[in-house]
Amino acid sequence: MILDGKKTAELITKKVGEEVQTIPEKITLALILVGHNPASEVYVNSKMKACDAVGICVRDFFLEENATQKELLSIIDSCNKDSNVHGILVQMPLPSHIDENIVINAISPEKDVDGLTIINQGKLMAGLDTIAPATPKGVITLLKKHYIDIVGKNVVVIGRSILVGKPLALLFLKNNATVTIAHSRTTNLKELTKRADILAVAVGKPNFITADMVKKDAVVVDIGINRVEGKLIGDVKFNEVSEIASYISPVPKGVGPMTIASLLENILECYHIQKRNRE
Ligand SMILES: NC(=O)c1ccc[n+]([C@@H]2O[C@H](COP(=O)([O-])OP(=O)(O)OC[C@H]3O[C@@H](n4cnc5c(N)ncnc54)[C@H](OP(=O)(O)O)[C@@H]3O)[C@@H](O)[C@H]2O)c1
Repeated sequence: MILDGKKTAELITKKVGEEVQTIPEKITLALILVGHNPASEVYVNSKMKACDAVGICVRDFFLEENATQKELLSIIDSCNKDSNVHGILVQMPLPSHIDENIVINAISPEKDVDGLTIINQGKLMAGLDTIAPATPKGVITLLKKHYIDIVGKNVVVIGRSILVGKPLALLFLKNNATVTIAHSRTTNLKELTKRADILAVAVGKPNFITADMVKKDAVVVDIGINRVEGKLIGDVKFNEVSEIASYISPVPKGVGPMTIASLLENILECYHIQKRNRE
C-alpha cells in the first residue's frame, strides 16, 4: 500500500487553514534566502505558495550571494524583536562565507519554525515537547495517519543529519520504537535493514535501497529526493521494494508534501507558543 503523502498533507493543510481563519492576528513568517541556489529557490517558492494558500503572510528577505553574515544576523535580530513576525526560516544551505550554526542559533527558539536551534534540538533530545524539524515530523505524522503502529517496532533510520536522520530517530524513540541509526560508516547495513519493521531512508542516493535489503511486509519511508535526468526519484528502488513492503512512500507525493504541511503546523505552533509566553 502507498503512504499517500499528498492526500495526507492536503488534509493537514486544510486544518491549518481553518485554524488560521479563526486567529485575528496576521500570522507571519519571515523567509530568508541568500543567493540563487536553484533547488533552494524551488523550495522557497513552494513554501511561499503553501503559506499563501492557508492565509499565512510571508515577509521575504531575498539577499544576494555576497550578503554578509552581519546583514543576515541583523535581519534575524529585527524579526526576533518584531511581535508581528511569528516564525523565521532561513533557507539552507547558506553560502560558504556564512556560518550556518551561528545564523540558526541567532533565531529565537520560539520563532524557530525549522526546529534547528540548539534549544529546540536539545528539547527533542530530552524528550520534551518542542518544534520538531518539518521533515521528520512529517514522517511520523504520515505513519500515524495511516494507522501504522510504531510502539515496540524495530526501526532503522539510514542517515544522521541534523535536518532529517537524527531528529527522526529521536522522534521514533519518543514514540517508543526500538531505533537503530545507520550512516556511511555502518558496516553491516543489509543485515540491519533486513531486520527493520520500519525502514526510513534519508541518504540522498538514488535507488540506494533494493528489494534484497528489505524484510517482507516492512514499512518503508523514502525521504530521499534525487534529480535524475530531470526526474525526481527517491533513495528506494520503488518498483521492486513495493512488491515486498506492506507500505511504502512514493517520491514524489510522499514525504515531500508532508514536509511542507508540517512546516505550516510549526508556524502555527510557534504563534501559539509566543501567545502563551506573553500571557
Ligand atoms: N522529502 C523532503 O522534504 C526532504 C527534506 C530534507 C531532505 N530530503 C532529502 O533527504 C536526503 C537526505 O537529506 P539530508 O539533508 O539528511 O542529507 P545529508 O546531510 O547529506 O545526510 C545523508 C546521510 O546519509 C548517510 N549516508 C551516505 N551514504 C551512505 C551509505 N552508503 N550508507 C549509509 N548511509 C549513508 C550519511 O552518513 P554520514 O553522516 O556518515 O556522512 C548522512 O548521515 C536527501 O536526498 C535530501 O534531498 C528530503
